[in-house]
Amino acid sequence: MKLFIDSADLAEIKEAQAMGALDGVTTNPSLLAKAGRPMRQAITAICELVDGPVSAEVLATDTDGIVKEARELAALHPNVVVKVPLIADGLKAVRILAGEGIRTNVTLCFSAPQALLAAKAGATYISPFVGRIDDAGGDGMELVEQIVLIYRNYDLETEVLTASVRSPVHFVRAALIGSHVATVPLSVIKQLLKHPLTDSGLARFLEDAKKIPKA
Ligand code: G3P
Repeated sequence: MKLFIDSADLAEIKEAQAMGALDGVTTNPSLLAKAGRPMRQAITAICELVDGPVSAEVLATDTDGIVKEARELAALHPNVVVKVPLIADGLKAVRILAGEGIRTNVTLCFSAPQALLAAKAGATYISPFVGRIDDAGGDGMELVEQIVLIYRNYDLETEVLTASVRSPVHFVRAALIGSHVATVPLSVIKQLLKHPLTDSGLARFLEDAKKIPKA
């Protein structure tokens, strides 16, 4: 499974990249607002840093506006994948953009039929928001399971990008289900790495190493 970082913060992205497991980046307007830089400047800087797909979201909500913005974002850098909301105008735009070879990440997916329609429109990625489904009392990972199965049933090429990941459990379940990608905030990437037995084992080895006779 590919690991993307869900962040627009260059320092966070650099830190995740230094761990050697980073395949791409996803951003959204909330993350860009938090990063505090103009959008196009921030996206270009991320693309120059990470050699992989970098999702940048359109703000328009009508087909013509989405297509126009998507073309502009895609022209910024070859790594850009255009994030499009899962609404009717969004899917019409995805269809046009797919015809032009512009990659899309269809975002704010909360149901299996939405995911099937996005794939049929030609989405490169579909982003089910698992954490937000859990927040609303549902089971986000059950949705990922359904989408992966439906896409497999019909050999659909759209990749499932598990988003709104809040815990290592989401990450592991995504990998077990066969999600192509999980996008994860840095705080959770750090949790993925942690195990108390690793820390106590290392402490013990370092303590015992002091007893090794000097040459
Ligand atoms: O980038 C989309 C998604 O990962 C947002 O996550 O935590 O705001 O629900 P969250």
